[in-house]
Amino acid sequence: QYCPRQSPGTAAIQSRGCGAASKEDSQCCVDPLSAMEQENVIRQELENLHGIPLYKSFIEGWSQVKAFQAHPDDLLISTYPKSGTTWLSEIMDMIYHDGDVEKCRRDAIYNRVPFLEMAVPKVPSGIEQLENTPSPRLVKTHLPVQLLPTSFWEKDCKIIYMARNPKDVVISYYYFHQMAKIHPDPGTKAEFLENFMAGKVAYGSWYDHVCGWWEKKQKMLYLFYEDMKKDPWWEVQKILEFLGKELAEETVERILHYTSFQEMKKNPAANYETMLPTLMDHSLSPFLRKGISGDWKDHFTVAQNERFDQHYQECMAGSDLHFQMEV
Ligand code: A3P
Repeated sequence: QYCPRQSPGTAAIQSRGCGAASKEDSQCCVDPLSAMEQENVIRQELENLHGIPLYKSFIEGWSQVKAFQAHPDDLLISTYPKSGTTWLSEIMDMIYHDGDVEKCRRDAIYNRVPFLEMAVPKVPSGIEQLENTPSPRLVKTHLPVQLLPTSFWEKDCKIIYMARNPKDVVISYYYFHQMAKIHPDPGTKAEFLENFMAGKVAYGSWYDHVCGWWEKKQKMLYLFYEDMKKDPWWEVQKILEFLGKELAEETVERILHYTSFQEMKKNPAANYETMLPTLMDHSLSPFLRKGISGDWKDHFTVAQNERFDQHYQECMAGSDLHFQMEV
């Protein structure tokens, strides 16, 4: 039994002191957000942070994020939202713990890998969580490259970026808007598609994000969701080489097993079901929704696909960054 009697020091907003636990345990997380807090968090309109649309509460905490002092042994996991952040985070935590499944269930993924720029009223921010996280720390961010606190570069931290094709990202993001209430109402799928293409969604333009980080690829490891789907063993080898770490083959196999979509979906430490229902309503759409490449084909109309392809080609013209739209 974890919560709240055995709440971890790094208790985060989402579970308010409830560590990862079973679905039943999550019921003890009585939703404590007051009406006033909800007003500041739920369905808030996005504001502008140096040209990037972002949640108001995150912008209010920005000065601390900008001044964040990374440790040289911090490892940053960077992604555009819905690109497999949680998947990569789980893989990294398992690698850091030599495939020890129990250790990786010590807490929810959003507490094991603090979200750097997360700030919501009256709860520990990502920065505060990080202060209470022992080194070596795994840090999650969705910031575009130009907004990354400079300390990560100065301290020469290891960075892994994971990118996913934009058609699957936009569909995943649409369903995520429905269940994760920090976002504005997404409107219809067609409306959301327009907003996404125009970069009028949290974290701004997908194109700018993936291309901006791509420019730094020499200084980091740049991975693709589609490659991870096709050959996770090989991608884990790349990560191990990047880390300068060796793991026994059976450990790698265990990691791959426990970070598969099916295993993560039923793991309360990985599937976000311990989050406050006010913030994430899994009955509208589960966090681990489909976990495939090419799901967009069930959602885009022929006309939308043609328009998207044309827009994609315009935005990516001249770039040597290529995406597989399905695997
Ligand atoms: P779908 O909505 O397409 O299913 P993020 O963690 O960046 O928010 O990304 C969430 C997306 O990654 C969701 O995509 C989710 O299902 C998918 N995902 C999470 N864990 C996964 C896994 N182990 N294998 C494949 N996809 C996974």
